[in-house]
Amino acid sequence: MPGGEEPLLRPGSPTSNDSAIAEEDALLTGERTGKEDITSTTRSKWREIGLFVWALLATATVVILAVVYQHSQTTGKSAESDSIPTGKRNLIFMVSDGMGPTSLALTRGYRQFTDELPWDDTLIIDDHMIGQSRTRSSSSLVTDSAAGATAFSCGQKSYNGAISVLPDHTPCGSVMEAAKRLGYTTGLVVTTRITDATPAVFASHVRRREMEDDVALQMIGETHPLGRMVDLMFGGGRCHFLPNSNERSCRNDTTDVVSTAKDAGWSYISTRSEFDSLSSAPALPLLGLFADQDIPYEIDRRFQDSTYPPLKSTALKALEALSAATKNTEEGFFIMIEGSRIDHAGHANDPAAQVHEVLAYDETIAAVLDFIERTETPTLMVSTSDHETGGLATARQLHPTYPDYLWYPSVLANASHSSAWTAHQYHLYLDALSHNTSAPTEEIALKNEKLAYLTTLASSNLGIHDASSNELSTLVSAPAIAAYSFADMVSRRAQTGWSTHGHSGADVNIFASNREWAKDLAGNHENTEIGEFLRRYLGAEEEVEKVTAELREKMDVSHLGEIPKEGERLDGQDHLDHYHGDHRKRCTGCGA
Ligand SMILES: *[C@@H]1O[C@H](CO)[C@@H](O)[C@H](O)[C@H]1NC(C)=O
Ligand SMILES: *[C@@H]1O[C@H](CO)[C@@H](O)[C@H](O)[C@H]1NC(C)=O
Ligand SMILES: *[C@@H]1O[C@H](CO)[C@@H](O)[C@H](O)[C@H]1NC(C)=O
Ligand SMILES: [Zn+2]
Repeated sequence: MPGGEEPLLRPGSPTSNDSAIAEEDALLTGERTGKEDITSTTRSKWREIGLFVWALLATATVVILAVVYQHSQTTGKSAESDSIPTGKRNLIFMVSDGMGPTSLALTRGYRQFTDELPWDDTLIIDDHMIGQSRTRSSSSLVTDSAAGATAFSCGQKSYNGAISVLPDHTPCGSVMEAAKRLGYTTGLVVTTRITDATPAVFASHVRRREMEDDVALQMIGETHPLGRMVDLMFGGGRCHFLPNSNERSCRNDTTDVVSTAKDAGWSYISTRSEFDSLSSAPALPLLGLFADQDIPYEIDRRFQDSTYPPLKSTALKALEALSAATKNTEEGFFIMIEGSRIDHAGHANDPAAQVHEVLAYDETIAAVLDFIERTETPTLMVSTSDHETGGLATARQLHPTYPDYLWYPSVLANASHSSAWTAHQYHLYLDALSHNTSAPTEEIALKNEKLAYLTTLASSNLGIHDASSNELSTLVSAPAIAAYSFADMVSRRAQTGWSTHGHSGADVNIFASNREWAKDLAGNHENTEIGEFLRRYLGAEEEVEKVTAELREKMDVSHLGEIPKEGERLDGQDHLDHYHGDHRKRCTGCGA
């Protein structure tokens, strides 16, 4: 830019008044100008006057700047509240559980490689980044999903394991409960169990997240002190709705929650074909549970598409249903849509599973944005994560020597299944082998049989054709940690790094479909401020307080659960791997 590098207060052009500038220079530097005809007395008199005027001007400038700044601050604030649309409006809150900024870099790099896209190709979600969220909970610098989601539902920090319950173990009103009571139609769409922490906080209150049996009953309205708060639920977790007389049940009691829900007026579906036959304006309340526990990882689900609907489809169907239900109502809808298993892929340290989860989430974002374009009611989408999982790095130190600056998306592209799925296959094989009368009985022969199987399995599921004898031997000797071992084989070859099988304390991104409406969330925020924004957008701030007061009065301790013991772990470790499910035992065994 011409003149951009000119020093301040220097003559900018030949037309400037040279003598005035020289005077000004002199005033600033205290140096004499070249006007030798002026006596030194006059000079010093003028100098004093000049200094006085300069001081006056400088003071005035400071005062004016301060006033202008304060004014812009105040008007900025009032414009913030004004920026939210008034009248009928919808809110789509999306949660990418466990997705940190590096998950996006990983997925971008992966897609650029597989689809031969240019280096500046980005995900849809990237265009909508507006800020970042700080994620710590009240009990730890590293949050779990329960405390993370409670920050969204209640707008308050709580302890790890808390489901819309505060550090004093009393329930806090959720934004969805308040919205429902104000006349909004409400929905929850997830790919994990619908009773898992993120969806649970919106329509139930328990002191420990493992109480999923109770959560199921609260969510359908049966034991919720304020009645039914959700109109539509799509996800997994069917086992918590079946009585323990059913072999697919994971309940601890004989309560048939599906029947109870039907009796209370819910429509219930559980298969892909029932889902596909739903009309575009299905009767509400509607409960769709498509898996006993989690809906499979996208990398595996794509081969079982006739059994499990993808997130994009469940999300869109839900939006259509809520849209139809609110066609002639005064209030719009509020829905939470979660890409739940990005987190699980992080826990598993499985980069191949994760890129497919993130791509599925991005496709869902695209579908949601498209829906917003089509819909007449003003609709805002806000997306964020509750925390990062895995401490993912798109780099890895493999050897003591200085590393190359790279990672290999081609390795992830070669994997056709998740490590969890691959481990599940291996466990099924071991089970069959133990019942196979023609299987070798001699120890070395049996081991060789397993090694041969594993070599083929790694090749067919993970695209790894150079499994080392060390890697294969570990798989034979420690089948319980096979999922982690397979994931490690992929991660090392791809040179992607992980620092934990749990969560990390990293900041996560905030995205929005409309920067103007969501401008309160621009910049770096505490996760609770996202919760505050959601209720402010819906005009539900006062109602949340009323809900809290009512819950405190009416909530039965038998449904709220026992107060956790000091130091008790409530971070949901038991649900990390539904294929095997004994990571905790395993880790004390493996001494890692
Ligand atoms: C499950 O039920 C049994 C028997 O009723 C009870 O002793 C146990 O505490 C229950 N466990 C949980 C986690 O609710
Ligand atoms: C991917 O698999 C192909 C064969 O299917 C193999 O030739 C190639 O080396 C593999 N690439 C990587 C990075 O593992
Ligand atoms: C039993 O083991 C034999 C020898 O390893 C194998 O050929 C056969 O396919 C196995 N049968 C089953 C049912 O797994
Ligand atoms: Zn998690």
